[in-house]
Amino acid sequence: MKRWQDPSWVEEMRLGLDMNLMMSPPLAPEAGIAAGELDRLTPRMTEILQELEIDRDEGRLPFLTIPAHPTLVQEIKKYVRGVKGWVENFVVLGIGGSSLGARALQTALNHPAYNLLSRTMRKGFPRFFVADNIDPDGFNALLELVDLRKTLFNVVSKSGGTAETMSQYLIVRELLKRRGGNRKELDHLVITTDPEAGNLRKIVRADAVAGFEIPPRLGGRFSVLSAVGLLPAAMVGIDIEELLAGARDMDQRCREANLWKNPAALSAALSFLAYREKNKFIRVFMPYVDALGGVGDWFAQIWAESLGKRVDRQGREIRTGQTPVSSRGATDQHSQLQLYAEGPADKVITFVGVKSYGTTLPIPPAGPSAPALGYLGGHTLNELIRSELQATRLTLAGNGRPSLLITLPRVNPFTVGQLLFLLELETYLCGQLLEINPLDQPGVEEGKNLAYALMGRKGYENKIQGWEPFLKTDPRFIL
Ligand code: PA5
Repeated sequence: MKRWQDPSWVEEMRLGLDMNLMMSPPLAPEAGIAAGELDRLTPRMTEILQELEIDRDEGRLPFLTIPAHPTLVQEIKKYVRGVKGWVENFVVLGIGGSSLGARALQTALNHPAYNLLSRTMRKGFPRFFVADNIDPDGFNALLELVDLRKTLFNVVSKSGGTAETMSQYLIVRELLKRRGGNRKELDHLVITTDPEAGNLRKIVRADAVAGFEIPPRLGGRFSVLSAVGLLPAAMVGIDIEELLAGARDMDQRCREANLWKNPAALSAALSFLAYREKNKFIRVFMPYVDALGGVGDWFAQIWAESLGKRVDRQGREIRTGQTPVSSRGATDQHSQLQLYAEGPADKVITFVGVKSYGTTLPIPPAGPSAPALGYLGGHTLNELIRSELQATRLTLAGNGRPSLLITLPRVNPFTVGQLLFLLELETYLCGQLLEINPLDQPGVEEGKNLAYALMGRKGYENKIQGWEPFLKTDPRFIL
């Protein structure tokens, strides 16, 4: 029996949410949310949860159903077994939702210096890289570092058209042709893309490249639990079965109709009220767990791109969205906390803590030369970081800054699966409360189209029209 099949282990590993410091009281009414305000939102949330079930059943929300895909895990594991023997470097070529999930999983669930471990310590799994940006120096440095003959590139793009990823693909393919060694250049590629549409799917078909599918309605930022995140995770030895079991467990908890017992519905309602009623325009995501830094970056993207919208579902201009900030405790206590505590009262903080870190690190006694440090000796770094988290929560609360605390019992695939699913669903539900479409990204598409026009892509010439006033340069403003 796997541990995630054991009900008592599952119970022990469930994420906790503490909303006390979001509420009024103890916070003043202009900062915290009164229980009555949540109650008033309950009828709307109930409707949204009912619509969610219909959309789920009718296949409109694959991010909800993908954790229960019947064959995906086995397909991925089979592929990994087939290539593991020769792959020393696994490189993800993708950007935005097509890379942040893979990076978040790797950072969360592998050794912090994974790539520096010996192959034996990596249990035979390859080193891991993500090439999301197209800074020529950065990309070239990576290509020079890896031995192409032992490198597998995972080209990930839902649309199969994103210029950054496609240009990286073209560069890599050309290099492989020249320097790929004995293997065919195509053996060094595995493509994750839409099952039907786009250039990458054409390449998979025409050239018989290995490929995985991103379900048609699954957008990049909601795709971490599909092959987009799972293939890279499995390639570096992460237990993807357990990860998905965690996501399914959170899904079950979030099917609860009672708002007060449903983690995603409750956190979405609180986020919505903090933004709409308490003018909290900035959402800080602050884990006190280094391993979850990548989840913070992933969350910043899903929150920004899903909720930052010009129009509502009726097409009315509303210019909505809360700005996410990916922060880190305790580090950013010494960088950003001053602003959060005493600056504008426009922030709400999501803290993420862990009950048990993997290590317990005792702090030795200070000795007679520094008696003032004596209070540290005999404690552990674990106690210190927990106290820092608590102190920061209290400081913020005392200054009228609301915060919510998510606690993972430990960091493992099961708890990370729960966390990712919770944040995906919270984002989606918050979008429903804001009455916008959280699944599109017209602002991003506009930028992509302009870049195509500037690069001379056929069919996009007229995308540059209307931008002329912004292209004129006044010499007075150029130094
Ligand atoms: O979340 C999103 O939809 C975006 O961030 C996309 O993932 C990003 O623009 C890359 O798109 P694609 O996967 O089509 O290359």
